[in-house]
Amino acid sequence: MRYNRFLPLSCVAAIAIAGAAGAADPWSENAVSRHIDQRDYTGPLDAARLGELIDAGEALFIAKYTTGDGAGRPLATQAIIPTKRKRPVEQAFQRMQGMDANACSSCHNDPVTGGAGDFSVNVFVSEGFGNADFDSVDPQFSNERNTNHLMGAGLVELLAREMSADLQNQRNQAIRTAKSDGVEQSVRLVSKGVDFGVLTIHPDGIVDLTGLDGIDTDLVIRPFSQKGVMTSLRQFTINALNDHHGMQADERFGARWTGEADFDGDGHDREITAGDVSALVAWQASRPPPVTRAPENADWRALAGEGRARFDEFGCAECHRPALPLESLAFSDPGPLDAAGTLRLGEGGEGAVYDLAVLDWAKTLPRDDEGRVLVPLFGDLKRHKIADRQVAALGNELLAQRFVERDIFMTSELWGIASTAPYGHRGDLTTLNEVILAHGGEARDSRDRYANANEDDRRALIAFLKTMEIPE
Ligand code: HEC
Ligand code: HEC
Repeated sequence: MRYNRFLPLSCVAAIAIAGAAGAADPWSENAVSRHIDQRDYTGPLDAARLGELIDAGEALFIAKYTTGDGAGRPLATQAIIPTKRKRPVEQAFQRMQGMDANACSSCHNDPVTGGAGDFSVNVFVSEGFGNADFDSVDPQFSNERNTNHLMGAGLVELLAREMSADLQNQRNQAIRTAKSDGVEQSVRLVSKGVDFGVLTIHPDGIVDLTGLDGIDTDLVIRPFSQKGVMTSLRQFTINALNDHHGMQADERFGARWTGEADFDGDGHDREITAGDVSALVAWQASRPPPVTRAPENADWRALAGEGRARFDEFGCAECHRPALPLESLAFSDPGPLDAAGTLRLGEGGEGAVYDLAVLDWAKTLPRDDEGRVLVPLFGDLKRHKIADRQVAALGNELLAQRFVERDIFMTSELWGIASTAPYGHRGDLTTLNEVILAHGGEARDSRDRYANANEDDRRALIAFLKTMEIPE
C-alpha cells in the first residue's frame, strides 16, 4: 500500500474531523465527513490552528471523492470559467476531459503523497470553452502534461509574490518619473537576480511592453503549471477539484457567480466550501521542500561535487538558479494576487495568515547575510523558449495556453528531480540525459555544451542531479 506511511497522520486528521462533527454514520460512503468553515480560520493562525487546517487539508487531498460528496459534473465542463455542457455527459469518468481520477493523491503520489506522477496519470489540459468537450488524445484538442510535484509549493508561491511586487514597483516608479520629468524612461526589470526584459514608458504614461521577456504583461509571475500560467495554489486547487473530480468550489461555481447553487447539476450544492479550499492550500503550502542528499559512497560524492561545477559551467544555472532569496515566510491565503473566480480579500472573503517558519523543515533552510531564506529550487520562475528547428521535441504542443507560445515553458524547478521521473512536460522522456539533450531554443547553447562534453563530465552532471531528492 502506497499510503501506509501516512496512516498515522491521516487517521489523526480523520478522527479529529469526525470527533468535531459527531462521528460519521458507519454506513456513510462520503469521503468528506466535515466541511471547514472559513470563518473558523481567519486572521493570524498559530502553529496549533495551522496544524488543524493542514490535517484537514491532507484528508481532502487523499479523499477519494464520491457521488455522496458531490463528485461528478454531468452538466458542467472542466473549463476554468464555469461553463455548461450542451447535453449531459455520457460517462461520468473519462481520461481525456475528466473526471479522470478519484483523489488528488491518485496522481500526486511519487514518491510521497504530494509528489509527482508517472506517464499513466498524465492530464489532457484544455482550458478552452468550445474545445473543453473532447474524447480523443489527439493533440489538437488538448495539451498532454505530466504530473509535477508539490513539495515546497508554499515557498514557490511566496517567491513569486515577492517577485511580482518587485517588478510592479519598478514599473510604477518608472511611470511616476516619466510623468514628473516628462522624459521617456527605460527600466530593466530584475527581481532576485532574474531579468524579465525592458519596459519603456513614454511621458504621456503609455507603456511599451514589447521588451518584456518570460512574463505576462501585468508583471505577475505565475509559478504554477509547467507552462507558468497559474498564479496561486488556491486558483490551481479550484481548477483541479472541478477538472479531475467534479467537485465544485462555492467561491467560483456557487450561486454568487453562476446564479445556481448546483451549477454542475449533480444534485449537490456547497460541494467545496471556501474553508475546504483553504485547508487544501495550507496542506500544499506546508509541504517540505526536496533536499540535496550527499551520497554515502565517497566516489559518488566526489563525482556529484564535480557535477555541481559542470552545472554552472554548462550554463544550466542561468535558468535553473540554485537558490532564490525569500524575504518573508508569512503566507496569506487568499493571497494578494488571487485571481477573479477565486476567493479574494475584500470580496467578503476573510483570509488566514500563517508563518511557514513555525514548521520544522523551515528551520533547516539556509539563510543569507541579510537573514533571507535561500530557497534551493534550481529554477527562475521565468518562461523560456525551449525548442528550435533542430532540437524540437519539447515544442510538441499544438495549442497555445493562455496565449503563451507553444514552445515556451517555465523553467522546471529541479529540486527533487531524482525522485520524479519521467521527464519533460509530457513525461515522455525516461532519462535525465534525454531531457537535457531535448533542450533547444534559449537553452540550446547550454545543451550543446553538455552534448559536446566528454563522458566523465556528463556522468558527473547526472550524478549531481541524482542527489536532489524528495525524502520518503
Ligand atoms: C489526473 C491526475 C491529477 C490529479 C487527480 C490532480 N493533479 Fe494536480 N497536476 C497534475 C498535472 C498533470 C499537473 C501539471 C499541469 C501542467 O503542467 O499543466 C498538476 C499540477 C498541479 C499543481 C501545480 C504544481 C506546479 O508546481 O506547477 C497543483 C498546485 C496541483 N496540481 C494541485 C492538485 C490538487 C489540489 C489536486 C486535487 C484537487 C490535484 N492536483 C489533482 C495531475 C493531477
Ligand atoms: C534557457 C533556460 C534553460 C537552460 C539554460 C537549461 N534549462 Fe533545463 N529546463 C528549462 C525549461 C524551460 C525546462 C522545461 C522543459 C519542458 O518540460 O518543456 C527545463 C527542464 C529541465 C529538466 C527536466 C525537468 C523535469 O521535471 O522534467 C532537466 C533535468 C533540466 N532542465 C536540466 C538542465 C540542465 C542539466 C541544463 C544544463 C545543461 C539545463 N537544464 C539548462 C530551461 C533551461
